[in-house]
Amino acid sequence: MQRLFPIILLAFISNSALANTEILHWWTSPGEQAALHVLEQQLNDHNISYTPSAVIGGGGDTAMMVLQARALAGNAPDIVQLEGPNIKAWDDIGLLYSLNSIAKDEHWDEKFYPLSVNINKTSHGYVALPLSLHRLNWLWVNQRLLKRLQLSVPTNWTDMLEVMEKAKNAGVQPLALGARQWQVNQLFESIVIGTGGVDFYLSTLVDLDVKKINSAQMRYALNVFRRISKITGQTLPNMDWDTATKQLIDDKALFQIGGDWILGDLLAQQIAVPNHIGCYSAPSAVNSYLYNMDSLIFVKSKHFEHSTAINIAKALADKAFQTQFNRSKGSIPSRRDIAIDDFNDCQKKSYDDFHYAINNGLAIPSMTDSMAINPVAQQAINSEIYRFFRNSAVSDNDVITRIISIAESNE
Ligand code: BGC
Repeated sequence: MQRLFPIILLAFISNSALANTEILHWWTSPGEQAALHVLEQQLNDHNISYTPSAVIGGGGDTAMMVLQARALAGNAPDIVQLEGPNIKAWDDIGLLYSLNSIAKDEHWDEKFYPLSVNINKTSHGYVALPLSLHRLNWLWVNQRLLKRLQLSVPTNWTDMLEVMEKAKNAGVQPLALGARQWQVNQLFESIVIGTGGVDFYLSTLVDLDVKKINSAQMRYALNVFRRISKITGQTLPNMDWDTATKQLIDDKALFQIGGDWILGDLLAQQIAVPNHIGCYSAPSAVNSYLYNMDSLIFVKSKHFEHSTAINIAKALADKAFQTQFNRSKGSIPSRRDIAIDDFNDCQKKSYDDFHYAINNGLAIPSMTDSMAINPVAQQAINSEIYRFFRNSAVSDNDVITRIISIAESNE
């Protein structure tokens, strides 16, 4: 009996753990936690008990490593926050529950933007639920510091470099940026768009066209990136994106470049937006809308039944929930039938810019934030771009040669 006791106890613990639905995510900052709270509330209201499994790290790279390890061990979480082409990759190995029945009953094809539909449907139909649509090519500006320095918001990258230099010479930290690949590389995406245009971005960082990668235009973008690294210094502080946002909030840094989860953090900390911290399109964004989208996948397993997955998907596809969730998250809804009259002004701008971009072929998927290419090539290219930023001994030709060889082995 004594020997059996631990076994019985273990069985008891694992059974009670199984009663909860586990959600793996990387929403750990103040704004993300506020949005997660909305999600939790919605599940509570539907009598669904859940356990959040948070993995720190903007962009979700670490969360994806955890997912892989757990799936290999046969212990995948029930629900996972996932992005873009990764949805198809996980569906290809037959791991995902179909959401087709609920999607059909609730007319997801009409309720969601075609862009949301394309991302969340595979050849098996719906295998993921779209939650939010984020804009990435934003310039967040500390208005107090800008005013004190008597500078104006830069609208192209030449001005941006000049304004950053001036701020630095006046003793103000120009850019809130931490030593994280994902943060640094988002900056590069905006430089590629702003200096080369939307088609150039698409051909180089989405289609991986080697001729375009090996071009004077790409060398120019890398040169701007290198100049920024000289201004910020290559030894960046060891901080996550939300700590960088805190520098902006505390009037310690002039700019931050990055997605509108930054807005979620500003709102959660009651910062006056756009009066204290303003939102502007990244320099020379020329009406482009660089996006990523959060989705949820529902993983097949014995203890997580398809019917439970469908109930949860129904609760989280709900219009009122998706409204509240996105309002807190700083994003705009991935459903097309949500009015955003009571959202923040930056979200209203995002919404207008998104519609303009969609109608003019200017909505473009973020490579660094997992929306454009397969995860293996993405990881390899990202580490080359980051290495170039951190190490001035790496030349533009070195990084171009390496990206080309990744592109060629990806064909
Ligand atoms: C996710 C956002 C998240 C951000 C920072 C992005 O990849 O799409 O939901 O807020 O990473 O953690």
